[in-house]
Amino acid sequence: MNDMLRREAISRVGITIAIDGPAGSGKSTVSKELASRLGIGYLDTGAMYRALTWYVLDRGIDWSDGEAVARAAQEMPLRMDSDPADPHVWIGQREVTKQIREPRIALEIKHVSTNLDVRAWMAGDQRRRMMEARLGGSGMIAEGRDITTVVCPDADVRVLLLADQEARLRRRTLELYGDATAEHMEIVRAQVEGRDRADAEVSEFMVAAPGVSTVDSTGLDVRGVCEAIIRLVDEDLARRDA
Ligand code: DC
Repeated sequence: MNDMLRREAISRVGITIAIDGPAGSGKSTVSKELASRLGIGYLDTGAMYRALTWYVLDRGIDWSDGEAVARAAQEMPLRMDSDPADPHVWIGQREVTKQIREPRIALEIKHVSTNLDVRAWMAGDQRRRMMEARLGGSGMIAEGRDITTVVCPDADVRVLLLADQEARLRRRTLELYGDATAEHMEIVRAQVEGRDRADAEVSEFMVAAPGVSTVDSTGLDVRGVCEAIIRLVDEDLARRDA
């Protein structure tokens, strides 16, 4: 199917695409690229956990008060645009797109991502965003850790994106330092292994759930991974006879 026919098919039936995977698996780059190519929205669910971490720090809420942290999720005036070419995040009038990527956020995010009330609220909100886009004659690709299993287990296309440890480390190091020297790789190794351990406490994202397709990005470039997922999209559209 060519790109134009695929976009037309999607506009007839709508689509939800769920992508999970560990840090450095390439899911953000691939999801943005796919959303642009398919003409659908993009949802970075990690950015929502990051935004809440920024908000709790900004408000001076005590991390040990789990109920207050969960209330903050509901109160936070979060706005995200779903344009994959240039995604932005605001809290109220304040743009926090860059701030939520600062190391101080990664340092505290576990207080947010391991709070089960926060996770329940996030899952409901993320699901609503995906379903609204699908019903609106378009669709959404959402990436995270629990999209294929908790947020949208009924997504039209579900993918677990994996890559071997060294490939993931190399990607993250290049992203952060612009090079992949042994010294920088060791610094990033400590961060990534710590994050994966904390994340694994609340979500299973290294083993595909039943019905979820695994794509291994180790030897593939962005284009190769996108092609593999587009094949799954075409199979779904054919199944639904769109
Ligand atoms: O994908 P990321 O690095 O921006 O994610 C930030 C943090 O949020 C990471 O520690 C995992 C967590 N997260 C999560 O628990 N569930 C999601 N659906 C997305 C992210």
